[in-house]
Amino acid sequence: MEVVIAAPEELSALAANTIESLLATNPEAVLGLATGSSPLGIYDELARRYAEGHVSFERARAFTLDEYVGLAADHPERYGNVIEKEFASRVDFAPGALRGPDGLATDVLAACARYEAAIVESGGVDLQIVGIGSDGHVGFNEPGSSLASRTRIKTLTEQTRLDNARFFGGDLDQVPRHCLTQGLATIMSARHVVLIATGRAKAEAIHQLVEGPVSAMWPATVLQHHPHVSVLVDRDAAGLLKLADYFHSTYAAKPEWQGL
Ligand code: F6R
Repeated sequence: MEVVIAAPEELSALAANTIESLLATNPEAVLGLATGSSPLGIYDELARRYAEGHVSFERARAFTLDEYVGLAADHPERYGNVIEKEFASRVDFAPGALRGPDGLATDVLAACARYEAAIVESGGVDLQIVGIGSDGHVGFNEPGSSLASRTRIKTLTEQTRLDNARFFGGDLDQVPRHCLTQGLATIMSARHVVLIATGRAKAEAIHQLVEGPVSAMWPATVLQHHPHVSVLVDRDAAGLLKLADYFHSTYAAKPEWQGL
């Protein structure tokens, strides 16, 4: 697990560099995309580079991590619509190249199984972007999630609903109670996981992720078992890391060509 502590713009640029290099070597790469506020800087940076002709998504495919259950197809906070607005519509994905779990499926079990199968059929995710919840969730794998879980329906915690109420005009009642989310084992199947987090509210979750024991109580800790994880955090999110000095010096001494 590599931990990079830097300013938010630098973190977004680092992640964008990694995605640009991946697509340069493999234009058909499969990306895993997260919603929420943490990856927005990465999407802005990639959209800018696309506009300048440095990167293309024409042959790439992408899978989103999760989706609220029951939000109308045209609801602005439906994650499929959010990712379309924040990223896909600003670059050149081919029609149908971006998929997400079907939060309006009548047969939820079948929809989740189909989603897992689609990821496998694509050859698997090459690079998965994830954020982290203040309660340590990745995707919407809330505390208590099986570390071996696959795509399924989950109930959001009160904390997550409170955290996300800001996207629903601050009205907690508007925040859905359920979601479909890739499981922790699904996320662990990605070949490279890039986690980005900023702000003090994430500091405890980042401390647990990097330095805590692996536990379903802090689901992101399962990533300690992944061979290639890049944790990109600003100073605030890194605020509780005991090993912060070590991570600073390691990154400062890293040759630029090495990438994440
Ligand atoms: C979103 C997702 C969530 C968020 C997390 C952090 O697709 O899977 O795990 O990444 O809730 O959200 P932000 O980035 O808004 O703080």
